[in-house]
Amino acid sequence: MIPTSDGQADSRSGTPPPGYQLRLLQPNALADYKRLRDTMLSRHEEAFTSDAATELKRPIESYASRLCQGDEGATLFTLVAYFGREMVGAITCEREPRQKVRHIAHIVGMMVSDKAQGRGVGRALLSQALNLLRGELGLELVTLSVTSDNLAAVRLYEACGFSRYGHLPRAIRLPNGALLDKDLMVLTLHTPATQLLPESHAQPKRSQGQA
Ligand SMILES: CC(C)(COP(=O)(O)OP(=O)(O)OC[C@H]1O[C@@H](n2cnc3c(N)ncnc32)[C@H](O)[C@@H]1OP(=O)(O)O)[C@@H](O)C(=O)NCCC(=O)NCCS
Repeated sequence: MIPTSDGQADSRSGTPPPGYQLRLLQPNALADYKRLRDTMLSRHEEAFTSDAATELKRPIESYASRLCQGDEGATLFTLVAYFGREMVGAITCEREPRQKVRHIAHIVGMMVSDKAQGRGVGRALLSQALNLLRGELGLELVTLSVTSDNLAAVRLYEACGFSRYGHLPRAIRLPNGALLDKDLMVLTLHTPATQLLPESHAQPKRSQGQA
């Protein structure tokens, strides 16, 4: 169950501020999701890798890829925030499908509409997403990338436990030619389980009588 709030905000546990609700994105809300995303891409082009003009042309149905796909695809879930009937925020979590990297998830498409910002919605979305990720079997790491001078986002990620493991200079080029750096951040969800060495790597048994 996604917690809702009628009283005190407790965004650290994923509970949104009063009046706001968190839900998993459903097929009948894809048009609202596209509307929110297109608005955020055009208003905050420095914050996203996708460009607003290209994404505006995308059909609504293409966002079905952001619904929970079970074992069939990379998207684990998209969590959305509502104020009344209006979608005001979203976050998507994807999981690497390949065996060797299935312990890694990625956060993409983090956004809170301008008028809902600064109230704890972003922190509630991220905290609740991390709660859901902690319940995913075998998941150990969560990564994301963020434009280095996007202080609101960087502080939010740091407040929720992410730390910087890399920095990519000139990571995105805006339509006006400006080049912006990105920070690469990671959070450890679980300490890795003790590794079981395959038989061939195990210590050879001592033969009887050996000192
Ligand atoms: C970044 C964003 C998601 C934050 O959402 P939000 O709902 O405004 O954030 P919250 O109100 O939950 O704030 C949580 C924490 O984030 C940090 N933060 C948020 N806004 C901030 C600001 N303007 N300046 C500095 N820190 C800020 C603070 O650490 C804050 O904790 P605090 O309130 O205890 O100080 C939102 O500003 C946004 O959508 N921006 C445009 C798109 C974007 O940058 N997306 C991220 C792409 S990586």
